[in-house]
Amino acid sequence: MTFARRTLPAPPRRWPPLGHLPDWGGHPLELLEAGARLGPLFELNLGLRTVVGYSPGFNRRLLSDLSAFRSAGSFSRLVPYLAGGVILTDAPAHRERRATLNPSFHARSLEALRQRVRAAIRPVRGEFDALAWADTNVRRMLNAAFFSGEFEDALLHAYLAPLRRPFPLPMLPRPAVFARFRAELRRLGALRRVRGGDDLLAQLCRLEGGLEETRIALGAAHDTTTHTLAWTLWHLAAYPQWRHPEGLGPVIRETLRLFPPGWMGSRRLARDLEVDGCALPRGTLVMYSPYLTHRDPSLWPEPLAFRPQRFLHKPPAWAYLPFGGGERTCLGMHLAQLLLEEALSGFLDGTLRPCGGDPRPRPGVTLGPAGPLHLSFWP
Ligand code: HEM
Repeated sequence: MTFARRTLPAPPRRWPPLGHLPDWGGHPLELLEAGARLGPLFELNLGLRTVVGYSPGFNRRLLSDLSAFRSAGSFSRLVPYLAGGVILTDAPAHRERRATLNPSFHARSLEALRQRVRAAIRPVRGEFDALAWADTNVRRMLNAAFFSGEFEDALLHAYLAPLRRPFPLPMLPRPAVFARFRAELRRLGALRRVRGGDDLLAQLCRLEGGLEETRIALGAAHDTTTHTLAWTLWHLAAYPQWRHPEGLGPVIRETLRLFPPGWMGSRRLARDLEVDGCALPRGTLVMYSPYLTHRDPSLWPEPLAFRPQRFLHKPPAWAYLPFGGGERTCLGMHLAQLLLEEALSGFLDGTLRPCGGDPRPRPGVTLGPAGPLHLSFWP
């Protein structure tokens, strides 16, 4: 099939021979915002032809058609912490894979882990950095949920830490740490196969490829949940009128709207396709961006204002995607919810105050606050 290639708008390039790569490396949010001002579908040159869309219709299309929009060849492949398991499994195998994984991550089955997660949290008093606190405590909560706290914390930390560092650190291979990490997974999995258990590893280690799924889930879980927890605490301190049990849900949702850790997702086109009247050839890198969709003024009035009350009503379809959508919706959405509820509920009573810091978004593998985020808490 041949296509008449409609030219899509593209933001200016500072060094034309390098395409948009320098801006993508240095200021990807500004680059995306510059593109978004040109229209709902725009083009970037990131070494290969890249198309970015952010309208609800585009999101629905990309997230609903797993046979055309493939994970193989997307950005996730470049990050060894995410490159594997269900994340890199494409249709038709993806559906069956999710069907075997989903039961362990259903909200109801996760309830059994709640007490253990709660016990893993280290309470805080006085002045503290919410980002550092979230980083440690999300790791502790994940250790509790996946391994009943039995995974060696220093190794878990050593394994996960580069994910939150700037590029290219999250892309670098670390054979020695990965080997130790996998050996520890095997050891804990073998223990569970002998003596049983009720943590997530006890369920996952029985599946084919279950240890690899555990590794990938931890990579997908840690930074996303850490950043959400830190930013939500920051907003709870800044908007005390929402600091009560019923306010927590809307504050988390509004935090995830303005600062979605999954700020963009990418796919490769498995075949030539027409999208919004534009012919895209097979192999095109196609990106959706919760960050852009969540800040589109045609969907969210005064998008930059922090207003949890927006979520007293249902958002428009495919306009709110902090956990993605369709069949690839985040596997750990309910686990993240549980971790956030448990960690935040300890801050609902007492005095919580902002003491300064830098909450501006900094894009990496996930979007996180530049930090630190100094708060003071007196229970
Ligand atoms: C607030 C915390 C979290 C956020 C914001 C988040 C966000 C996302 C997003 C946006 C996607 C879709 C990516 C895409 O379409 O390319 C996704 C997928 C995924 N997430 Fe999460 N996530 C969070 C927590 C977790 C946790 C706790 C886990 C642990 C199990 C997890 C595991 C996964 C996995 C395995 C996928 C891939 C699913 C698939 O391809 O079928 N995430 N997440």
